[in-house]
Amino acid sequence: MKAFVYERYGPPEALRMAEVDKPSPDAGEVLVRVLAASVNAADWHVLRGRPLFSRATLGLLRPKHKVLGGDVAGQVEATGSDVARFQPGDEVYANLLDHGFGGFADYVSVPADAMAPKPANLSFEEAAAVPMAAVTALQGLRHHGELRPAQRVLINGATGGVGSFAVQLAKASGAEVTGVTSTRNLDLVRSLGADHVVDYTTTDFADGGRRYDLILDTVGNRSVRDLKRALAEGGKAAVTGFTSMRRLLGVSLRGGKDVAQVQAHVTTAELELLSELIEAGKVRPRIDRRYPFAEIPAAIAYLEQGHARAKVVIEVARG
Ligand SMILES: NC(=O)c1ccc[n+]([C@@H]2O[C@H](COP(=O)([O-])OP(=O)(O)OC[C@H]3O[C@@H](n4cnc5c(N)ncnc54)[C@H](OP(=O)(O)O)[C@@H]3O)[C@@H](O)[C@H]2O)c1
Repeated sequence: MKAFVYERYGPPEALRMAEVDKPSPDAGEVLVRVLAASVNAADWHVLRGRPLFSRATLGLLRPKHKVLGGDVAGQVEATGSDVARFQPGDEVYANLLDHGFGGFADYVSVPADAMAPKPANLSFEEAAAVPMAAVTALQGLRHHGELRPAQRVLINGATGGVGSFAVQLAKASGAEVTGVTSTRNLDLVRSLGADHVVDYTTTDFADGGRRYDLILDTVGNRSVRDLKRALAEGGKAAVTGFTSMRRLLGVSLRGGKDVAQVQAHVTTAELELLSELIEAGKVRPRIDRRYPFAEIPAAIAYLEQGHARAKVVIEVARG
């Protein structure tokens, strides 16, 4: 089968298309024929082996996992002996971040507990846009407890992969949502359902004016002090991204109980919950760009610039 592989850490050009062995599923796994994928920040972080400390798990000198790709949607080809929930032909979506990646390929073996039936009202490309970003948004918003109606929620980075889901999920919970983005994206944030918008090129959401019960910072460009200044009494902030080691360490060392770094983990239960919201019309993935399989390096390079408008997906030819 064909796959994009890399043997050394580097830029997207380090990826090359190659013929590799088709995987065979272990007892608890499902072999999925990949019909669409999406790219995430994790793909370029892992491709570059950045931050450097991540190489302790990714492989010190060379990458342990040769094939990237966390988010996939496709059709079940075969199942392992312990898997009863899925049958060949089922349409599914999955995330492989906790399972060694492998989605930028014709086939991938996925643990059955990291996948779910594809939402019926989404195409394969739309479904592939969901797992990593939407579960991160969901777990970030719920990290400090359940969202309550009328809570004032601010999403920093409201037009990114994670942010575009977070705005919709917070709205679906009845929150009053403020989205932070740049001038060109203000209408996009409104169209996602935000009640208020903040243009970060002209306005600082952390100037102490308006305060929020919950902040989801998907960008990770603000100090703990800034985030605390923007929080109402008893408010909490969850941070999913980071723009420098200083920011990452700041949250880890000085966040306390109120400001926490969130690491998302995709499970079947989370995907099933998202499927319900999607099929009920409360959440819908937004696609910025679509790239053919052969242009996966270009898709990653585009995302790495940090200004994608929602999700970037990969179309895999069906032949
Ligand atoms: N912890 C986890 O488990 C986990 C999981 C997924 C992602 N992440 C992390 O979360 C972060 C976000 O991921 P993503 O997929 O949403 O990334 P993304 O799609 O690349 O985010 C791009 C968006 O960020 C916005 N942005 C850039 N600079 C901004 C600023 N100064 N203020 C507000 N918005 C700004 C851009 O809007 P403009 O074009 O308007 O600037 C763009 O829409 C990444 O750092 C990623 O590594 C973590």
